[in-house]
Amino acid sequence: MFLLFILFLFNSLSSDMATGNVAKPSCQTQCGNLTVAYPFGIGEGSGCSRDASFDLICNSTDYDPPKLFMDISGNIQVDNISDSEMWVTSYVAFRCYNQLVDVTPDEEYSAWFNLEGTPFSFSQRNKFTVIGCDDFAMITGSNGGDFTSGCLGLCTRPDDVPDGYCSGIECYQTTIPKGLKTYNATLSSIRNHTRVFSFNRCGYVFLGEEDNLQFHGLQDLSNSSKFYTNDPIVPTVLEWAIQSNLSCIEANECKGNSS
Ligand SMILES: *[C@@H]1O[C@H](CO)[C@@H](O)[C@H](O)[C@H]1NC(C)=O
Ligand SMILES: *[C@@H]1O[C@H](CO)[C@@H](O)[C@H](O)[C@H]1NC(C)=O
Ligand SMILES: *[C@@H]1O[C@H](CO)[C@@H](O)[C@H](O)[C@H]1NC(C)=O
Ligand SMILES: *[C@@H]1O[C@H](CO)[C@@H](O)[C@H](O)[C@H]1NC(C)=O
Ligand SMILES: *[C@@H]1O[C@H](CO)[C@@H](O)[C@H](O)[C@H]1NC(C)=O
Ligand SMILES: *[C@@H]1O[C@H](CO)[C@@H](O)[C@H](O)[C@H]1NC(C)=O
Ligand SMILES: *[C@@H]1O[C@H](CO)[C@@H](O)[C@H](O)[C@H]1NC(C)=O
Repeated sequence: MFLLFILFLFNSLSSDMATGNVAKPSCQTQCGNLTVAYPFGIGEGSGCSRDASFDLICNSTDYDPPKLFMDISGNIQVDNISDSEMWVTSYVAFRCYNQLVDVTPDEEYSAWFNLEGTPFSFSQRNKFTVIGCDDFAMITGSNGGDFTSGCLGLCTRPDDVPDGYCSGIECYQTTIPKGLKTYNATLSSIRNHTRVFSFNRCGYVFLGEEDNLQFHGLQDLSNSSKFYTNDPIVPTVLEWAIQSNLSCIEANECKGNSS
């Protein structure tokens, strides 16, 4: 009987190991269709994660199916986790104009994201992307050192806008430095969209996963925001790592996918 129990335990453990889905005992592992493995853990202060920066919140009261969020920043949704990356949603900065020349934009949002003091940084598989025909984005950030970049979206006629890809004219992308931990992206305009208003009322900038961007040309320039979803949010890839001066085995962190 006892031996059977041991065998059963060993079997269930090893099949968990094989899929890499190892959480601490008696910890919740599922949130909707997402499986959460150590060093991540569900529940603020639940003791299920390695430390507070890996705490995730599964919100099942307001969402069906439930949605997962980072605890360090309550409004950052987690879409997926692999053994070195985490996909989250981040915000799009935008600035929309009306047809009058000398008028301040009627809708304006900047976008910023701060991962300072966490084991996360932005993957270089993300690019800053500006979409607009009369828009200049200023991006500041830090990876220890300061990072400043600007990108310009410029076009004058609807015919200038190719469909289906980011051409570097009305949709411009720029790379980010390794280990970027914070950014702040704001938009400004050269002519307040006066010459392009008929087909492009708003400018946008965001940091998003390059492989996920589907730019639909003119349709995206005239529509409020439909680059990835109906919401002004985009998928962004974070890299994560356990920061420890102990070796993996010494620190007893070699559970699941850690190395
Ligand atoms: C779930 O989400 C709602 C809406 O965003 C929020 O008001 C609520 O506090 C969240 N619940 C938990 C447990 O985080
Ligand atoms: C979870 O389900 C949603 C909705 O069906 C889907 O869009 C998403 O890709 C799934 N995520 C994972 C990690 O399987
Ligand atoms: C989620 O991440 C896992 C591990 O990298 C991957 O196998 C899976 O395809 C991803 N799911 C989605 C919906 O992206
Ligand atoms: C982002 O930059 C803008 C313009 O420089 C500034 O007004 C704003 O306060 C900054 N936001 C954050 C969160 O640093
Ligand atoms: C754009 O709008 C701003 C804010 O009202 C104004 O100061 C500026 O002169 C306008 N620029 C042009 C080129 O119209
Ligand atoms: C704008 O996007 C929304 C949401 O995707 C879509 O329903 C609508 O038809 C689009 N409008 C135009 C003018 O393309
Ligand atoms: C790891 O770092 C901590 C704090 O800096 C220090 O107290 C500890 O001695 C270090 N351990 C090893 C094995 O270097």
